[in-house]
Amino acid sequence: MCGIVGYVGKRPCRDLLVAGLEKLEYRGYDSAGISLLEDGRIDTVRAVGNLANLRAAAGIEPDGDGAVAVAAPPATIGLAHTRWATHGRVTEENAHPHGDCSDAVHIVLNGIVENHSELRAELSEQGHVFSSETDAEIVAHLIERNYDGDLTEAVRRSFNELRGHYAFAAMHAEQPETLVAARQECPLIVGLGSDEAFIASAIPAFLAETRRALIIENGEIVTVTPEGASITDAAGNPVERDADQVEWDEDTAEKGGYATFMRKEIDEQPDSVAETIADRLPDRDRVDLSELEIVPEFIAGMRRIVIVACGTSYHAGLVGRYAIEQWARVPVEMDIASEYRYRDPVVGEDDLVIGITQSGETADTLAAMRLARERGAKVLALTNVMGSQATRDADAVLYTRAGLEIGVAATKTFTTQVAAMYLLGLWVAQHRGTIPDERLAELIAELKAIPHKIQETLDSVEDQVKAVARAEHEGRFFLYLGRNIGLPICLEGALKMKEISYIPSDAYAAGEMKHGPIALLDESTPVVCVATESPTLEKMLSNMEEVRARGADVIAIATEGSPRVAEASDLAIEIPRTDWVLQPIVAILPLQLLAYHVARMLGLNVDQPRNLAKTVTVE
Ligand code: G6P
Repeated sequence: MCGIVGYVGKRPCRDLLVAGLEKLEYRGYDSAGISLLEDGRIDTVRAVGNLANLRAAAGIEPDGDGAVAVAAPPATIGLAHTRWATHGRVTEENAHPHGDCSDAVHIVLNGIVENHSELRAELSEQGHVFSSETDAEIVAHLIERNYDGDLTEAVRRSFNELRGHYAFAAMHAEQPETLVAARQECPLIVGLGSDEAFIASAIPAFLAETRRALIIENGEIVTVTPEGASITDAAGNPVERDADQVEWDEDTAEKGGYATFMRKEIDEQPDSVAETIADRLPDRDRVDLSELEIVPEFIAGMRRIVIVACGTSYHAGLVGRYAIEQWARVPVEMDIASEYRYRDPVVGEDDLVIGITQSGETADTLAAMRLARERGAKVLALTNVMGSQATRDADAVLYTRAGLEIGVAATKTFTTQVAAMYLLGLWVAQHRGTIPDERLAELIAELKAIPHKIQETLDSVEDQVKAVARAEHEGRFFLYLGRNIGLPICLEGALKMKEISYIPSDAYAAGEMKHGPIALLDESTPVVCVATESPTLEKMLSNMEEVRARGADVIAIATEGSPRVAEASDLAIEIPRTDWVLQPIVAILPLQLLAYHVARMLGLNVDQPRNLAKTVTVE
């Protein structure tokens, strides 16, 4: 989830590029850089931290408060980037732009190159020398290898050698009037001005300069000059497309045309989950988490796993517990970090303690992880933020790759955490030999298909969810019931509902309903039942009958093609079929949307609910 800006035209572009990066600041980043081409030479400045650091490194001073602005160099073509680290630590060397061996090709990239290790090995063997740990640098060297005077052709050939989820832009020292960019899944837009053009990962980067935007689609390569842009497909065939006039104001543009960040982030989930699993499933029957720096012998011999977390991260841990126990047959204990840290836990050398925290800064989770480490346990941090405190306090780190989440209600960070827990479950099972190869291959195939199933669900359930929201948004209470792997989804659905709609909501293990909560039910209670395919579906169906017998409305989340769930409910919202352990990552989507639409119908600020703040990483 990085930010890309490129410019080619007649104006000095350094300050235009930095201004473009500033407009992408809302996306979050940990480092930034800029490359300018002038007189056949490319100069680069990169800096860790915020744009003030980049400005200082580039000798750009703020022009307010009596400070003297340094005149911009006359370069009229350049590339700039803000990085949210995925491969490689947060360092100046790993910040973009990246160059090839002779500094003739420079590139900026957003996303993940899945086959980076193969390509790096191949290019190294051919004599290419790398100066960063990133997957992105590969692209500069590939273009170098493929270049024979035509940058578009070199980018096209390189593009066809890459696998993954990315968009990148390139320039060449010999081509002072040409930028070439390519897109595979990650967004890429060209802004067309008069005698100038921009390339960007999001429209706000150039909105102050031009409103004519040309959207680049998957599998396309675009060549941009001051005169305009020409698109080809990956085979080199020309593609005709007209530019659109962007009518958005700046605020809407920041939200990519969405009314709220939360809704935008809900829709980012196919992408962020794909990025999280991409290169970690390199083969059909192997999970690669070698980044974890935990020796396989420890995994094979460990006694149990303890998961500690808060809030939504705790719910992701609960899903993870089912997956790990099911596949790896290791006992998993789960605790809320603020409880665990104060209960003098029995934990020690043969235990793996997993701290889940999207921010990597939640005090209770950090304290629980530290306590476990002091007592000799191996500690793994599962986090979304490189360089956060959790990464420094842990023996090993597994990153989710959700990018910055601005909405306070966690959505894409939850599904990426769940995806990472699935990876961990399979990886542990692989090392402990508890899963037959065929079964592992099946689950890997299912996991790879999850981003598409998330997309399918987001495309199909919205109208039904809106209808429920319309009918129920003035209600006084929501109850969520589930069993087994459906229960954490109910807990997370109820949390979303209460935190952004302020409607009291409770989630219960359906088998416990008869021990008290059943007293809450009457004709006015909407009961959301997560009734996806699972070994406890029969039991869940009986619980749904009990609810209906009390006159309450049953809204079921069902696996597609489950007529009995449809019969046992007033409304069944169907999600695509997948392995039952993987259903939660899809089942949560209608519940996120339900909370969202209820809150919007009540006129509430879903991005910043009352009394709540997002934990932020302190720089
Ligand atoms: C806050 C947020 C929640 C989040 C929790 C834990 O309460 O509002 O959305 O789940 O903190 O945060 P962490 O960064 O540790 O995952």
